[in-house]
Amino acid sequence: MIQSLLTDGVVGRAVSSGLIRVGVHDLRDFTDDRHRSVDDVPYGGGPGMVLKPEPFFRAVAAIRREHGEPDVVALMSPQGRVLRHEQASALSGRSHVVLLCGRYEGVDERIHLALATEEISIGDYVLSGGELAAAVVVDTVARLVPGVVGDAKSVEQESFVDGLLDHPHYTRPPVFDGYEVPEVLRSGHHVEIQRWRRREALRRTQARRPDLLGQGPLDARRWSSKLKDEASRSSDREQADECD
Ligand code: ADE
Repeated sequence: MIQSLLTDGVVGRAVSSGLIRVGVHDLRDFTDDRHRSVDDVPYGGGPGMVLKPEPFFRAVAAIRREHGEPDVVALMSPQGRVLRHEQASALSGRSHVVLLCGRYEGVDERIHLALATEEISIGDYVLSGGELAAAVVVDTVARLVPGVVGDAKSVEQESFVDGLLDHPHYTRPPVFDGYEVPEVLRSGHHVEIQRWRRREALRRTQARRPDLLGQGPLDARRWSSKLKDEASRSSDREQADECD
């Protein structure tokens, strides 16, 4: 499940160029029974199996011995804090992060109590295991490591970095299927282009993710009123209505 992440695309290139290192460990290598069991029936009964604590504790002890003390030991779990850009950015500044992947119906609570320093969810839905969630974390954190994405500006200017969704993007041709590239983007007027992009980013955020406004590093409410002022000064009433 993790292989293609480590060989293909942006993360694959970061790994092969040595900008990041990613180790994958199989919990079954840290079992001591004939069947290499990593799970057992839940105390108290109920459906499904629970991942045993010992393989996790032994795996992390082996990682400690080989690579030193990790900065973060995060358990991937739908009960965790939902991952946002700020946390991904903080993780990209850490040098050694261990991600523990749960499977089946759950993991023994002692993993959460005595091993993990935090718990990360990638959204309010349940995956069949933590591997895909860990892959999501590796991808999003790796691209924030300086040098991993060739053009640093594209990371700096994308969605969530300033607390807003991204503005629309266009490339050639100027008209496609009757849809025209907005005139301002073809004007060569950089100040106007910046203003248009800001306004579109804010408009999209208000329409699609109003929950983001006022949360990010950029005080979007300040932007909102600024854009409203701007719009009311302009003769374009339609724009003013949308900014409202
Ligand atoms: N494991 C199962 N579901 C998950 C989720 N939503 N986030 C992180 N890990 C998970």
